[in-house]
Amino acid sequence: MRIASIVGARPQFIKAAPLSKRLRREHREVLIHTGQHYDRELSHIFFEQLKIPRPDYNLKVGSGGQGEQTGKMLMRVEEVLLKEKPDLVIVYGDTNSTLAGALAAVKLHIRVAHVEAGLRSYNRRMPEEINRVLTDHISDLLFCPSQRAVENLQREGIEEGVYLVGDVMFDALLENIEVACRESQVMERLGLSEGGFLLLTIHRQENTDRFENLNSIVGAVTSIEKKIIFPAHPRVRKWLRHWGLWERCQNAPNLMVIEPVGYLDMLLLEEKAEAILTDSGGMQKEAYFLKTPCLTLRQETEWSETVDDGWNTLVGTQPEKIREALCDLSFPTQGKNPYGEGEASKKIAEIIGRLEN
Ligand code: UD1
Ligand code: UDP
Repeated sequence: MRIASIVGARPQFIKAAPLSKRLRREHREVLIHTGQHYDRELSHIFFEQLKIPRPDYNLKVGSGGQGEQTGKMLMRVEEVLLKEKPDLVIVYGDTNSTLAGALAAVKLHIRVAHVEAGLRSYNRRMPEEINRVLTDHISDLLFCPSQRAVENLQREGIEEGVYLVGDVMFDALLENIEVACRESQVMERLGLSEGGFLLLTIHRQENTDRFENLNSIVGAVTSIEKKIIFPAHPRVRKWLRHWGLWERCQNAPNLMVIEPVGYLDMLLLEEKAEAILTDSGGMQKEAYFLKTPCLTLRQETEWSETVDDGWNTLVGTQPEKIREALCDLSFPTQGKNPYGEGEASKKIAEIIGRLEN
């Protein structure tokens, strides 16, 4: 079968890595990188570390407004699909690259498979929520990471082509955690000891582009008397400067602002941190898999199972709530992992293998 896989942003390289490896054993895969992320630290480093083949196409779409970025992707993905004529297009997650890839394919009558289908935050102000809902409604195959995701789809009337397979990011983590422990030098490089630091990431539009939220988070993290490692996404760098908060971060003695790190360094930091403060979707799950408590700097999450299990606390952006939650970190016993056994990519590849051309 000819399969076109479409990626473009950091978490999608990680999600695509384990599945791409399996699909290439039996199928011809054309890898399309939209170019949504283009800095070495957000893109190339993941291809190197996860041994993902070089993309067959890089559409070099780059940054831009929601409509501009998605529109350019739609045009350029369509051109490639017309040329390559794949039997199936695979899209991952909830970024603009996901929606553009799915929309281009469905209009050309090419089957669409959505990996990480059925996730919902029920907050339509998030561009990701729009991307998820629309992509799910135009997909033929919907690969869900959890039973809750399957139920979310049922509530929207989507029952056909839905498969509960588990989470591909868990596959990636299991494949790489030992490598990370063996090879990453990040602890020595940053002078860190196990449990002796907090790990922070921020990149959600609602937290970066709104002064009140970013100012509030900065107020909280600069007043905590614990070492905090902050690999800063370019989006938050831009907005910290824009809102005049950059110097405050630089001058805070407890806060270490560093470049975004590669996947192996990140896994090790997540494993060794006392707790993780983040608005990242992927990091909430990784914290859960690695049994590191997570404080999510949002009001809601699409990974709600991690909250129900007691490992993830929704703290929003208020300093008092963040401080309170840090004083009250809990380490509950985990029940059955709702995101599967780390065999999602195997299951997806088997289902795709049974499709007719
Ligand atoms: C995107 C996804 C988000 C995902 C995140 C993963 C959408 C709507 N958002 O958000 O769901 O969680 O990726 O990290 O698709 N920039 C650079 N260099 C780069 C890439 C971006 O400097 O290589 C800067 C640009 O100023 C750009 C900004 O970051 O405007 C935001 O990038 P963009 O891809 O639009 O959204 P993300 O916030 O990265
Ligand atoms: N990640 C990384 N380096 C970083 C920040 C994140 O390798 O500096 C990884 C992280 O381990 C996870 C994924 O990127 O696997 C999450 O991506 P991101 O937070 O950008 O997006 P989201 O998951 O929120 O869509």
